[in-house]
Amino acid sequence: MCGIVAYVGHREACPLIIKGLKRLEYRGYDSSGVALLNGSGLVIHKKKGKVSDLETELSAKDTHATTGMGHTRWATHGEPNDTNAHPHYSNDRKLAIIHNGIIENYATLKQKLQQKGHVFISDTDSEVLIHFIEDVRQETGNSLEEAVRLALQEVVGAYAIVVMSDEHPRQLIAARKGSPLVIGIGEDEFFFASDATPIIEYTKDVVYLDDYAIAVVKDNELNILNLDNVPQAPYIQKLELELDAIEKGGYEHFMLKEIFEQPRSIADSMRGRVRADEAHLQLGGLRNYLDKLADSKRIVIIGCGTSWHAGLVAEYLFEELARINVEVEYASEFRYRNPIIKENDIVIAISQSGETADTLAAIELAKSKGAIIFGVCNVVGSSIARATHAGAYTHAGPEIGVASTKAFTAQVTVLAIMALAAAQRKGTISEELYRQLLIELENIPDKVEEVLQSAAKIKEIAFIFTYARNFIYLGRGLNFPVALEGALKLKEISYIHAEGYPAAEMKHGPIALIDEDMPVVFLATKDSSYDKIVSNIQEVKARKGRVIAIVTAGDTLIPTMVDFVIEIPKTHEMLMPLLSVIPLQLLSYYVAVMRGRNVDQPRNLAKSVTVE
Ligand code: F6R
Repeated sequence: MCGIVAYVGHREACPLIIKGLKRLEYRGYDSSGVALLNGSGLVIHKKKGKVSDLETELSAKDTHATTGMGHTRWATHGEPNDTNAHPHYSNDRKLAIIHNGIIENYATLKQKLQQKGHVFISDTDSEVLIHFIEDVRQETGNSLEEAVRLALQEVVGAYAIVVMSDEHPRQLIAARKGSPLVIGIGEDEFFFASDATPIIEYTKDVVYLDDYAIAVVKDNELNILNLDNVPQAPYIQKLELELDAIEKGGYEHFMLKEIFEQPRSIADSMRGRVRADEAHLQLGGLRNYLDKLADSKRIVIIGCGTSWHAGLVAEYLFEELARINVEVEYASEFRYRNPIIKENDIVIAISQSGETADTLAAIELAKSKGAIIFGVCNVVGSSIARATHAGAYTHAGPEIGVASTKAFTAQVTVLAIMALAAAQRKGTISEELYRQLLIELENIPDKVEEVLQSAAKIKEIAFIFTYARNFIYLGRGLNFPVALEGALKLKEISYIHAEGYPAAEMKHGPIALIDEDMPVVFLATKDSSYDKIVSNIQEVKARKGRVIAIVTAGDTLIPTMVDFVIEIPKTHEMLMPLLSVIPLQLLSYYVAVMRGRNVDQPRNLAKSVTVE
């Protein structure tokens, strides 16, 4: 959460920073600000609201500067307002900081600093950090970079920071622990950002800063050292990201673009990995670990939110195909237990952003207990991707809409490939089923394309239910996690209360909610639990619930029983979530748009949850 951008070079810093902050708005969007060094000292402008509000405010100001930094905030300490927005000044207003993360010992530091006469303007932990750096510098008489290093040794918590000083107009100092930071290296210019999107049109050469590293750009030179003052050689990587991947490309919202991108993104997650004609599967990143996966006695899957739902789908896949016992855990719960990890257990961490704080902490805990950890991440070079022993990227491309869509289907695709690879190695899958599933996997992108053709019909259904106050989503087997995912999508972007349940569980409580005002979305595709789901639909209809059913094309029974039907093509039951989730994504999208919600930036949420 929170996006940071900084620049030192020869361009106008302010417009570049504002453009970058807009790209990072998915990380937080309650307030924003910039700090500029313009020859007459350090100037800070801040504004509650979106980056566009800040931009409007700045249009009347002199913003000329070639060194500057900016921040878009997702509030942790202190409500969203102009004062709590970043950047923050030091006590003498000669230093400024932008910060992403949480300083856990800020209260103790603040007290000590107050006793020394520091006056704080905001309620934030970040302001405390810059005052602390200032204090260390005054106490020790050291250079600013040394003061930053010494101060960070005392700090408990997570941070990505950039610090500026009005005494050094060509200098930026950045550091990271637990929150991402990328440095772009151009021709006599340097960029810092929470991810590479603000940088891509200027340079493809980037360095992903490691935890406990400090980067100092001074007079056109980049130096990296660690908190123990040991110099680190910068590892420069080439960015593969293209500009059109982070633009809306004619769609009204990123979420809609990302839903419609799924035929391509699913194909990309399979590219080079699945060849049905040769009955061949490969996963380069797991090449040396497949035996361990196949031999494992137990797989523990960890993730949060939508990634956790992908984990629930994987539970069915690994158990059914590879006959490996699977437990799926919320990372936030796992990390605070004393989990039992045995020899031959594999932990799979799923994360779109690769930065989720709870998932990262759960990985560290599992590692400390000797587990082998695989990552299934979308963002290349992310903290989780780097913290795991091996893994497979999902290659879905940047997901910018806060509600996860294409990342989910890419995760399920990669996990299906992993389960199939393990099953083949173990010999728990027949050659015929293996081939059939590979062929079906290759057909999925075209079938997703077919589902997307129902968008207009789904929009009509969304119109009818725009003002529903509640929704229930029901499914069985592999469609149960899809029900959870459908409910999550709806609540997060439309703010309608929605619950997902295994359909049979309805009788144990939720059935009390059913009446003529309750829309119930059934995942009712032709699979092994079809007859059971038909009975569950009857139970809802008998109580006058209004049923929207996702059915397999050609079904003649369920359409006679329900109020609305959305057809999806036939596929193998094991792969059904890749199709059945698509209408639910569209339904929540259209309901949210019709309710006038900010679909890409729903209230209170952030794309990358880097605080616990
Ligand atoms: C829901 C959503 C969140 C994320 C969750 C985990 O649409 O986006 O529930 O799935 O915050 O994020 P990652 O996958 O980045 O670890």
